[in-house]
Amino acid sequence: MKQYDVIIIGSGIAALQLANKLTKDLNVMILTKENLTKGNSYLAQGGVAAAVAPGDDPYLHYLDTMEAGAHHNNAKAVLEMTKKAPELINGLWQSGCRFDEDENGNLLLGMEGAHSEKRIVHSGGDETGRHMVEFLISDLASNITVEQSTFVYDLILNQEKSRCIGVKAKLPDGSNEIYLAPHVVLATGGCGQIFSFTSNAETASGDGIALAYRAGVELADMEFVQFHPTLLYVDGKTRGLISEAVRGEGALLVTEDGKQIMAGIHPLKDLAPRHIVSQTIYDYSRRGIQIYLDISYIEDFSSRFPTISKLCTQHGIDMEKGLIPVVPGSHFIMGGIKTDLQGRTSIPGLYAIGEAACTGIHGANRLASNSLLEGMFVGGNLADWINSQRADKETGNNLPVHVKTFFAGKLPVPDMLKQTMMDRAGIVRTKEQLTLQAEWLAQFNHDKWLDADLDHLSPAQLTSLFMYITATLVTQSALERTESRGGHYREDFPYEDNANWMKKQIIHQQKNRKDGKHEFNQTALAT
Ligand code: SIN
Repeated sequence: MKQYDVIIIGSGIAALQLANKLTKDLNVMILTKENLTKGNSYLAQGGVAAAVAPGDDPYLHYLDTMEAGAHHNNAKAVLEMTKKAPELINGLWQSGCRFDEDENGNLLLGMEGAHSEKRIVHSGGDETGRHMVEFLISDLASNITVEQSTFVYDLILNQEKSRCIGVKAKLPDGSNEIYLAPHVVLATGGCGQIFSFTSNAETASGDGIALAYRAGVELADMEFVQFHPTLLYVDGKTRGLISEAVRGEGALLVTEDGKQIMAGIHPLKDLAPRHIVSQTIYDYSRRGIQIYLDISYIEDFSSRFPTISKLCTQHGIDMEKGLIPVVPGSHFIMGGIKTDLQGRTSIPGLYAIGEAACTGIHGANRLASNSLLEGMFVGGNLADWINSQRADKETGNNLPVHVKTFFAGKLPVPDMLKQTMMDRAGIVRTKEQLTLQAEWLAQFNHDKWLDADLDHLSPAQLTSLFMYITATLVTQSALERTESRGGHYREDFPYEDNANWMKKQIIHQQKNRKDGKHEFNQTALAT
């Protein structure tokens, strides 16, 4: 058993920002299931949105975020983040993080979908995430310990189940270890891997969301999954992201014979909000028509987009032809563990930041390049909160014994889960297909897994379980929302229904403690 002041699970931008802003007298442990650079943050190409250009204004950034989010956003939270964005970027830049600059030493700004101004700060062309993660890692102080290849599989609550006091984890040698702390932070990222087409890292399997749900923590908005319009598509598989910044520099979506598919669909054409572009490409794919990104208008493509050029070349694309085959795939979940802007969840002592969390900032669809920004913003806020709360400690000296049930049921095969989620709960949804998926998922005993003891499972089995729990939540939530909004498109309810759905959907896992039963129960609360 090991005791710390703060345990951070995950190692993306939000986690590293938090770790770096905590005071140096705190004993901090970062637990990450792979190595420090294996997450989605490291893969981020586009950049960080901030109104730093002379003609720009945080209020315009706010308006764009609200519009992309289909006004499902927490407006106050969006205002606070967009106001703080220039300070966050300038702070990082001045402390030595390398962002791309013009010949006069000013930040070079890119354009992305649904932004009304050029405001995307980037680094190394399309290597923004990598440069930021490496910079933040280089800044980690000696009060921070990192344990890699350590898979957190359960949260430990106190006797009354009113506070989180630690976690259980699988160590690289297969043994189990207990880590205790008064502050436990889930920074585990999203769940893109529950779909067969995804831009996400292998690590994005919904772990934090499933851990929180099993512990009875409130979740929200799980139906809102963003499908990025342009993933490289070769031999029937997605092979990585082609950044929206490519369209920001002038690339167009075309059919093989050169027809521009976004003309007449939306005033912003190829830079329309992501759900609109994704649904349009999907419509062509359903009819067996391959869509391409025509990059022939972009001068010196390989120096502006070195990572993308390398990715395409590796997969046999002839860059001279200027056509990159693309399909949409899962990219980001707007929902997750419900938190406030300090990252606090419904259980004291447990926090969530980054993609695992749902602050309400992204609404029903995240604006491009707002995710690294949100991670920096809420990660920093949480550090301020924890720094001011240090007297508030509950140690696990009298570790509670919560008896969980032994259950050794079957779990879905991951490839089957991904394919069925893509086909039935993906870009275009209907009641019929979602019901089919809910029935398919139900055969694996979701409720029994919620209270099961997991000590005996391997990391691979735990990954399947967390994907399964998350997929069930996405499917159930998508069934319940009988309208289309942002990333959630129901072909049977194709319009926004503001009268009934202009509100947040909160998922409670209600525990009837007398008979130990779990109930899936959603209530809609007005924001
Ligand atoms: C992209 O570069 O297109 C992705 C950036 C983002 O999702 O914010």
